[in-house]
Amino acid sequence: MADEGNMEKLRKLAHFVTPYKSRLILLLCLTATMTTLGMMPPLVMKYVIDDVIVDGNWRVLEVLLVISICLPIASAAMRIAISFTNAYVGWGLTTQMRKFIYEHMLKLPMRFYDEMGTGKIMSRVMGDVASVRGMVTSRMLGIIIDFVSFWVALAFCMGLNWKMGCLLLVLLPLYFLNYYGWRTPIRESISLWRRKMDRVSVGLQERLTGVQLVKSYGRERRENRAFAEDTHSSLDAAMQSASHRAGYYAGTWGVSGFRNTVIFCLGCYYVIEGEMTYGAVMAFFSYSSRMFQPILNLTQIAMRLQAVMVSVDRILEILDFPIEIKDREDAVELPPIKGHVAFENVHFEYKKGEPVLKGIDLEVQPGQMVALVGHTGCGKTTMTSLLMRFFDVNKGRISIDGYDVRDVKLRTLRTQIGQVLQDSVMFNGTIRENLLYGRPDATDAELIAAARIAEIHEFIMQTPEGYDSMLGNDGIKLSVGEKQRLAIARAVLTDPAIMILDEATSSLDSLSEALIQKAMGNILKERTSFAIAHRLSTIVNADIIVVMDHGEIIETGTHRELLQIPNGKYRQLYEQQAAGSIEEAVEAMAG
Ligand SMILES: Nc1ncnc2c1ncn2[C@@H]1O[C@H](COP(=O)(O)OP(=O)(O)OP(=O)(O)O)[C@@H](O)[C@H]1O
Ligand SMILES: [Mg+2]
Repeated sequence: MADEGNMEKLRKLAHFVTPYKSRLILLLCLTATMTTLGMMPPLVMKYVIDDVIVDGNWRVLEVLLVISICLPIASAAMRIAISFTNAYVGWGLTTQMRKFIYEHMLKLPMRFYDEMGTGKIMSRVMGDVASVRGMVTSRMLGIIIDFVSFWVALAFCMGLNWKMGCLLLVLLPLYFLNYYGWRTPIRESISLWRRKMDRVSVGLQERLTGVQLVKSYGRERRENRAFAEDTHSSLDAAMQSASHRAGYYAGTWGVSGFRNTVIFCLGCYYVIEGEMTYGAVMAFFSYSSRMFQPILNLTQIAMRLQAVMVSVDRILEILDFPIEIKDREDAVELPPIKGHVAFENVHFEYKKGEPVLKGIDLEVQPGQMVALVGHTGCGKTTMTSLLMRFFDVNKGRISIDGYDVRDVKLRTLRTQIGQVLQDSVMFNGTIRENLLYGRPDATDAELIAAARIAEIHEFIMQTPEGYDSMLGNDGIKLSVGEKQRLAIARAVLTDPAIMILDEATSSLDSLSEALIQKAMGNILKERTSFAIAHRLSTIVNADIIVVMDHGEIIETGTHRELLQIPNGKYRQLYEQQAAGSIEEAVEAMAG
């Protein structure tokens, strides 16, 4: 069942179990004892029949009565202890694994999140971890119970009549033959069913995420049909697997029927011959069926082990993902930044053979505002991601105040750079909590000052509970522009020496844009800043405008200088947009 590769994988997860080793051993012992106690009743029955009913020996009945009362009490006590220990080990293990995985994930490069996607990560951290817990606790207990039951029942059978006991052993291979015959078809049909179910759930997830698209294109009927087809094909696979399992069970019952007939005939013969008592035959009968129950469970155990190995694989996919971006052994603290930034012959590619930046050279003096402009996909966001070291350059270097970003501690680098993205994220929580995210110790006065700079204070005061209003699913829903201004306030509050504004003003109307322009003028005065904007009107005041095209810088200069270049790219872009905005204005007036 578990080959070399599987053992290796399990070994990697073994350290999660180590702290619970003693409790696990206790759990196994308790389970084994409880199972053994559970095997007593047929033996008690035997003495009731042989000594009390047949021989009329009442003294034995007294002893048996005491045993019959004590047994369930002892079993119940053990069951409680098992439940508690099991819950302790199971939940402890789950918590520890999730904590470890999350901690590891936070160290992983952005590439990991891009490649894996939130849905997959969620199902690994929640579902797969739960499935491993299920294996270590309930499944393993099931295996112990089966194992103990088998050997105890066999021992009792042998004790009651060793010849019939040996006969049972002779019948054992028939069960295994049946098992091996059905194993592959069952396994294949279950894995087919799983694949189909995956398809159903992935399809459903996509359809739900894109529900607005479905509705807006009036594709409900088509989507309905596609979904119905997927679910039906999973139903077929489920039926196939059910019929294989039914075949297996039928085979097992066939063998069991044969076994019972043989025991019955032999038992009668031994009673007539005086070799066995009535009670002994009854007890033997009972033990022989208990002995074979665990074999019936074999396929299920094998299937579940296989399913758990899939979960283990998926968890290892996260744990084995290399931490590419981490502090070097000799990383130094980046002292408070003055704001000199240099890109020196920077080359970068996300995927091998597809260069995104091809030899970027750019020097920025402290306090300068740099605007990055260029067509979509030319590499603007990538440049800022490299500056924050979300990725490492493939060639060349990026330095801040002369420090190569790869030589300094990540924390000291990133906490000194503020970032406002086009799609700003707010967590579920109050406005205050969200704003304080980067600097939890800021005072109320600082908080309000930052909100004023970002032109969002007024808006916040209009919400029902001001700074204590909840954001998120159950709270107020923000427009993109409001969210962005909150994000600006959040970044301003950390007072970063370098500020990155990636399309920070792109989704604002002209009025809020003008407000933010003014505010940004204040924020950016004494900071080095990188502003990425498609709307050139927002960056005309930049100290350096960098025009990019396909991963290269093609023009640099101020707005005035760039407009001087005949047939220059910037000039073209600017003229296009100017024409566009005049058209818009004319349309607005006409409307
Ligand atoms: N995480 C990523 N993995 C792989 N490729 C990426 C990733 N991010 C960006 N790219 C690719 O790199 C190129 C540059 O992307 P980048 O986001 O830097 O462009 P941009 O100039 O910011 O564009 P936009 O103006 O649309 O924001 C694009 O071709 C994009 O497809
Ligand atoms: Mg971008």
